[in-house]
Amino acid sequence: MKKNGEPGDIENDFANLARLASSGSQDDTRLFLARLVRKYRQQRPELAALLDQSLKASQTRSAGNPVLRRDASFAESVETALPIDGDSRLALIRVFDDRNGLPPPILPVSVHDSIQAIIRERQERERLAARGISPTRSAILVGPPGVGKTLSARWIASALGKPLWVLDLTAVMSSLLGKTGNNLRAALDHAKKHAAVLLLDEIDAIAKRRSDESDIGELKRLVTVMLQEVDQWPNSGLLLAATNHPELVDPALWRRFDLVLKFDQPDTAAIGAAIRRFLGDDREALEPWADVLAAGLQGQSLSDVERSINTLRRANALQAAPIEKLISSAIDQQQELLSKAERLNLAIELAKTGKHTHVQISQMTGVARDTIRKHAGPSPRQGRGHK
Ligand SMILES: Nc1ncnc2c1ncn2[C@@H]1O[C@H](COP(=O)(O)OP(=O)(O)OP(=O)(O)O)[C@@H](O)[C@H]1O
Ligand SMILES: [Mg+2]
Repeated sequence: MKKNGEPGDIENDFANLARLASSGSQDDTRLFLARLVRKYRQQRPELAALLDQSLKASQTRSAGNPVLRRDASFAESVETALPIDGDSRLALIRVFDDRNGLPPPILPVSVHDSIQAIIRERQERERLAARGISPTRSAILVGPPGVGKTLSARWIASALGKPLWVLDLTAVMSSLLGKTGNNLRAALDHAKKHAAVLLLDEIDAIAKRRSDESDIGELKRLVTVMLQEVDQWPNSGLLLAATNHPELVDPALWRRFDLVLKFDQPDTAAIGAAIRRFLGDDREALEPWADVLAAGLQGQSLSDVERSINTLRRANALQAAPIEKLISSAIDQQQELLSKAERLNLAIELAKTGKHTHVQISQMTGVARDTIRKHAGPSPRQGRGHK
């Protein structure tokens, strides 16, 4: 028998997909694509990601609303059942629906494995239950901004075939004092009833240390609500929380989470992988610059890397300037933070790749050509990096 993701199996799916696409039925094609994304997500994540891109593109064309899509039935139940903050009229819960699949975030192996464990425990709940063990019910995601905490929560939900509900704690906190506790409890009850994957974002906003200056009665009550909720969270749901400020989270609350997932600033390898992913359709054309970008964008969060790459792609598409110039300005901000020695190192590393002429390297790093030659020998005749 052919297993999922084996060649013969893929061939069959390919033929079926072609048949559906050529029959002109968009809906059936999309449904089938979504099924393939789910089917290949584990065994062939890269294939699944590619298929998912096509699916998303087709959804964008037909619905005009790409990422934050409110599922009609969920949105309805959320909106009818949840209190809306009277002041800001902000819905307290946002919904990310990635049930069609999401490419896995780029993460260190340890975090990736912990996340996989959460997912696996859910998928094999019966096996655990048979031995009287419950799956991980709650986890707290800690780390600097823009490294994939929210994205990982979305990915977990997507792998479990559920939408991710995000409880906006800023909205909760902006509720009239005195009502905050009620609003929070109502939102949490709602999530529990629906066995949702719930993310409490910026949990530090609410979970201030009880010794804090602003620690008036209301905040105290909120922390108490949180403590009880985390304690009593049912097996059927999954409670996630995220924070950039672990030091602000009440230790008593911290202790109650089953699992702590620590996210760090990405290393060079992760930045390289992210750059290649964010380059999208320009990946092939800009591949010669990928290592330069990875070196030059070190120290940034992946969210900042994504922004730099998007800016670069836009400028490149409009041919706003020669590519060396564009690369140079993409890494400029970071370069100001680099010392002279670090810039020289970057230049030497670039020269070693043999992909760029010394003129190009000099433009990108601001290191003089003579200096580059002194350290790295003569320039290659022709840089392959430019068109
Ligand atoms: N590990 C990652 N893998 C792939 N893309 C990432 C990763 N981290 C960040 N990104 C990109 O940056 C965007 C923002 O990341 P995300 O919202 O997950 O950050 P965060 O850690 O939740 O930050 P914050 O603490 O500010 O909420 C993502 O939507 C994604 O496009
Ligand atoms: Mg976030």
